[in-house]
Amino acid sequence: MSTNWWHDAVIYQVYLRSFADANGDGIGDLAGLTSRLDHLERLGVDAIWLNPCYVSPQRDHGYDIADYCAIDPSYGTAEDLKALVADAHSRGIRVLMDMVANHCSDQHQWFLDAIASAPGSAARDRFLFRDGRGVDGELPPNNWQSVFGGAAWTRVDDGQWYFHAFDASQPDFNWRNRDVVEYFDGVLRFWFDRGVDGFRIDVAHGLFKDSAMPDALGDGHNYAMWDQPEVHEIYRRWRAIGTEYEPQRYFVGEIWVPTIEAMAQYLLADELHQAFTFDLLVQPWEATRMAAAIDRALVQAERVGGPPAWTLSNHDVHRPATRFGQEQHLDAPLPTDMIAAARRRGDADLALGVRRAKAATMLQLALPGTVYLYQGEELGLPEVFDLPDEAREDPIWLRSNGEELGRDGCRVPLPWDAASPTFGFSPPSSTSAPWLPQPQWFADYAANTQDLSDDSTLAVFRRAIAGKRDTFSGPDIDWLASGHPSLLAFRRGSGICAVNFGDSPVDVPREWNADAVLGSEHIGDGSVIPANSAVWLTVVRDDARTTVGSDGTSPAGLTSTTTGIHGPTGPQSHMRSNDAPQFT
Ligand code: NOJ
Ligand code: CA
Repeated sequence: MSTNWWHDAVIYQVYLRSFADANGDGIGDLAGLTSRLDHLERLGVDAIWLNPCYVSPQRDHGYDIADYCAIDPSYGTAEDLKALVADAHSRGIRVLMDMVANHCSDQHQWFLDAIASAPGSAARDRFLFRDGRGVDGELPPNNWQSVFGGAAWTRVDDGQWYFHAFDASQPDFNWRNRDVVEYFDGVLRFWFDRGVDGFRIDVAHGLFKDSAMPDALGDGHNYAMWDQPEVHEIYRRWRAIGTEYEPQRYFVGEIWVPTIEAMAQYLLADELHQAFTFDLLVQPWEATRMAAAIDRALVQAERVGGPPAWTLSNHDVHRPATRFGQEQHLDAPLPTDMIAAARRRGDADLALGVRRAKAATMLQLALPGTVYLYQGEELGLPEVFDLPDEAREDPIWLRSNGEELGRDGCRVPLPWDAASPTFGFSPPSSTSAPWLPQPQWFADYAANTQDLSDDSTLAVFRRAIAGKRDTFSGPDIDWLASGHPSLLAFRRGSGICAVNFGDSPVDVPREWNADAVLGSEHIGDGSVIPANSAVWLTVVRDDARTTVGSDGTSPAGLTSTTTGIHGPTGPQSHMRSNDAPQFT
């Protein structure tokens, strides 16, 4: 297997709690995942990324870790993980885990020790304890806000405050303390020694805060809370640990920084291999917006010499089938509001949303780079908006007093079998209900029904994943102009990907000299790209490429610009770097 296996990999995110429940307690588990590996093998994925499954009080479903080197009993045992890794590897599927190093759980032994120790003690120095302001220290040390809403500080009995970028149950580590640095070296090695192939790094830009912790000005991006220069020393360290292993271990970062330049710092050769391209995820269904996001990512990729990690979905945002079926907001997401842009309320036309989501998936799969899919995306699952309030568990919902729906709606246990109770999520004999209630309409999306149909979303995903490497090759794309504003088209190797963002069909330009090979909808004789759909074509006669003139204009009137990892950048690539996504 090549060292750079991730370069064009399809990686499937498993939200374990909601994937498959083997022991019938209503909570997905490792044995359930192992029992469903056939599904993932048939889908054609190269790796899975497991959301955190370590010992945790589950206040933020595993992103609050009490023991980094043990599996939470609700998910199984160390043996179950071993069995999963062995089975996945035997199918050529790699296993990535989630590294949550910004914060732990308030039930982690170190935090319990810190609470039990005096202000100024070594135990407190592993976290961010500060005295408060006001006459008796009754005010928080500064005005920083938690990402989940409310103040980012909580007071303990002796009057000091501790900092938490997320929930109060998730105290942030003090990464300037060497105990913390060395502890995580050990955690990485612990899992690498057990055959884990790499890590997704949670809030990778967050570990360090400006040590002066100055008040934030206004409601904008709080520069002092994120992306401090010292963080790079940590990733250089982690990369070095990963390269001690054969094959070398892989890191992908969840990183929100304001500029392409800032992002590039994380992706230099001696730091992380990749970072998610959230810029694509937050775009509306609109050709020029999508094209610009793709260009930005490819400019970035060119700068760092490694391909993007595309993604349209994860456990933190509303599902694409819903997002693309809602009213599309063409205004740029507010710089401080990127994720919220992918978590809007509002009615959705789901038939339209699923159509567009399939097309968007074929778009990502055609691009150079890695594609991350989120479980249920291959079923076209919509967001579950109709969860009863009392069932919701997300701290975003709880901390915003229900103002924000939060993320429970994309975490509802998967429907495997239309006819069985819990839709096959738990065994039929199970007496516990799934941890979040599944709506009746989940039956329409069940994997076993989709298995039987050549027209299902699942079938489209399987064909596209299987056909991706045969159709497209190389690190660069050439944009193809068609004269249709709603059509986004590019060529990569001898493949062309054309996505029709409009509501009317568009004729395949004859100048492309290409045959349609796959569509997200029926493509008939292949002469038309149906509305809201994607078509892949392969070039039959190579005129399209060879006739592109030096000014980027072909004799046929096609304009072409190249962007990519090694290629020269075209006009669309010269955007201002501050067009890149921003996030608090
Ligand atoms: C990002 C994770 O994706 C999200 O689910 C989690 O709540 C926060 N980081 C805090 O760990
Ligand atoms: Ca279970």
